[in-house]
Amino acid sequence: MKLITIVGARPQFIKAAPFSDVFRKQHHEIMIHTGQHYDQNMSDIFFQELSIPKPDYYLGVGSGSHGLQTGRMLEKIEQILLKEKPDGVLVYGDTNSTLAGALAASKLHIPVFHVESGLRSYNKRMPEEQNRVLTDHLSDLLLCPTKTAVENLKKEGITDGVLLTGDIMVDAVNRFMNISNKRYSNSKWLETLKAENPHIPLLKEKEYYLATIHRAENTDDLMKLQTIFTALERLDKPVLIPLHPRTQKLVEKFNISFRNVTIIQPVGYLLMLYLTKNAYMVVTDSGGLQKEAYLLKTPCTTLRDQTEWIETLENGWNCLCPINVHSIMEKASRKLDCLNHAQPQVFGDGNAAQRICQAIVNNFA
Ligand code: UD1
Ligand code: UDP
Repeated sequence: MKLITIVGARPQFIKAAPFSDVFRKQHHEIMIHTGQHYDQNMSDIFFQELSIPKPDYYLGVGSGSHGLQTGRMLEKIEQILLKEKPDGVLVYGDTNSTLAGALAASKLHIPVFHVESGLRSYNKRMPEEQNRVLTDHLSDLLLCPTKTAVENLKKEGITDGVLLTGDIMVDAVNRFMNISNKRYSNSKWLETLKAENPHIPLLKEKEYYLATIHRAENTDDLMKLQTIFTALERLDKPVLIPLHPRTQKLVEKFNISFRNVTIIQPVGYLLMLYLTKNAYMVVTDSGGLQKEAYLLKTPCTTLRDQTEWIETLENGWNCLCPINVHSIMEKASRKLDCLNHAQPQVFGDGNAAQRICQAIVNNFA
C-alpha cells in the first residue's frame, strides 16, 4: 500500500512521529511537508529530535493569508497526488495544511484518512473549526481520539468510517517523556535554558507558570493580547513563555510590556514536555498543550471560551478563562484540588498509531 501523509505545522510533526514509526515497519509512506511552519525551531528541530523521516516533498509554501496559503498548498499537493497515485492520503488535525491535503485528495477521488477527527469548539469563526469540519465531511476514515469526538460526528450525521482509536498525542507523550526525563532531569533543563537565555531567572520545579499564546482569536485583537500580558505580569510566580513567532512579532511591533515574564524562543518537544511536567501550572491557548498538561498531571488555565478537549475540564485539571486581567489572575491562582483526583484514561492507552494503521489496512481489505 502506498500512503501519502501531509504535515506542515508543529503539532503535526509531533503526531507524525509515532505514526510514521509504526506504519513504515510494514508499508510505504510518502511524506509531504507543506512548509506552513519553516523556522528551525518550528520545524527542523522536531524532525531531528523525534527521528521523523525526512519529508519526500517540501512545498515551501510559507506564511500568508488563509486563502493564499491554502490555495498554494492545494495546487502543489494536487500535482504530487497526480504523479504518485497513492492508495490514500492521511491528514492530521485542523490546520490549513490539513484542509488543503483533504481537499486535493477528495477532488481526485483518493480516500482521505483524518487523524484527530470529530473535535469541535462550535465556534465557526475559528480557522481550525472551519478546517476540521470541512476535512471531516470529506474523509473516508474518521479516526477519533475520544468518545466525545465520535458523538460530535454522530450529531452531524457521520457514522460511516468513524473509529475510536485513542489520541495519538498519548503515544507521543509516552514515547518521548522517557527520553525527555533522561535528557533534562537533575537541573539539566535549567542549564539548557540558561545556556541559550542568559537573562533567564532562577526557576524552581513546580514554582513557575509555563505559558504559550498563538491562537488567532487572542493575537489578532491587540487589546486581548495586551490584557493577557498584563495579567501574566501580575502572577505571583515567574512566567516562562516559549513564544510562537506570530505572537513574538506582535509583541515587538506593538511594544507590549512583559516585565516579570521571561520570553524565550519556541523550544523542541523534548524540552517542552519537561517544562510542562515541571510547571506549577500551564497557561495557554494551545490545543495540544492543554492535553499534554492533563496527561502530565499539571493543572492548566486555558485562555479561551471553548475547548475541544472537554474531558480535561473534569475535576478542574483544566479551566477555561475569559480574557480579562481579573479572571486570568483568579483562575491561575485557584485552589488546585484537581491534584487529589485520579484521572480516568479518557484519551486512550497510547496505542493509537497501531489502531490507525490497522484501520487503514482494513479499509483496503
Ligand atoms: C497554525 C494553525 C493552528 C495551529 C498552529 C500550531 C492554521 C489556520 N493555524 O497557526 O491551528 O495551532 O499552526 O502552531 O493552520 N511564522 C513564522 N515562522 C514559522 C511559522 C509561522 O514566523 O515557521 C509566523 C508568520 O508570521 C505567520 C504566523 O507565524 O504569518 C502564523 O503562522 P501560520 O502557520 O499561518 O499560523 P499559526 O498561528 O502558526
Ligand atoms: N510545543 C513545543 N515547543 C514550544 C511550544 C509548543 O514543542 O515551544 C508543542 C507542545 O508541547 C504541543 C504542540 O507543540 O505538543 C502544540 O502546538 P501548538 O500549540 O503550536 O498548536 P495546537 O496544538 O494549538 O494546534
